[in-house]
Amino acid sequence: MRLFKLSLLGIFLIAFWSCSDLGDEVNEDCSGIQNGNTTVDECDECGGDNSTCVNYSTEIQPIFTNKCTTCHGSSGGLNLTSYSALMNGGTSGNVVISNNGPGSYIIKKLRGTGSGGQMPASGCCLEDSEIQLIETWINEGAQDN
Ligand code: HEC
Repeated sequence: MRLFKLSLLGIFLIAFWSCSDLGDEVNEDCSGIQNGNTTVDECDECGGDNSTCVNYSTEIQPIFTNKCTTCHGSSGGLNLTSYSALMNGGTSGNVVISNNGPGSYIIKKLRGTGSGGQMPASGCCLEDSEIQLIETWINEGAQDN
């Protein structure tokens, strides 16, 4: 009789265990490990250490310097000669909304979906990959890196 009770308890425990196991399957970390604790870093990389973000000074500023600052370089309107000038915005206000590439005015202007003309106003347009890079940089928090 004691043995019977013990095995009943065993069956109950196994049933309980497998049920709670089912529930755990939903709880995967970003690398697919159940109950793991790997997280997505600020650069959208699973398990990253925030080191793979697009770099403003070596990847983004050179695009502006090559293709934009002939017009957006000095007084008045949007100045694209430095990070701080960019973040100051233009006559329409902020052109970068941190973490929101698609919603940022500068991305809309580069894709031709903002008001006014598509940028650059002469020598249009940037390569899709260049626009994508700027968008990714904004999505990653528009860091001054
Ligand atoms: C040939 C000159 C010229 C070049 C080159 C140029 N722009 Fe412009 N840009 C303008 C003019 C003029 C305006 C204002 C009229 C308008 O919004 O269409 C403007 C407006 C903008 C605005 C809106 C600013 C605001 O506050 O309303 C953004 C954003 C912008 N440009 C981004 C860029 C970027 C990024 C580049 C380089 C890839 C670039 N432009 C290259 C002439 C230029």
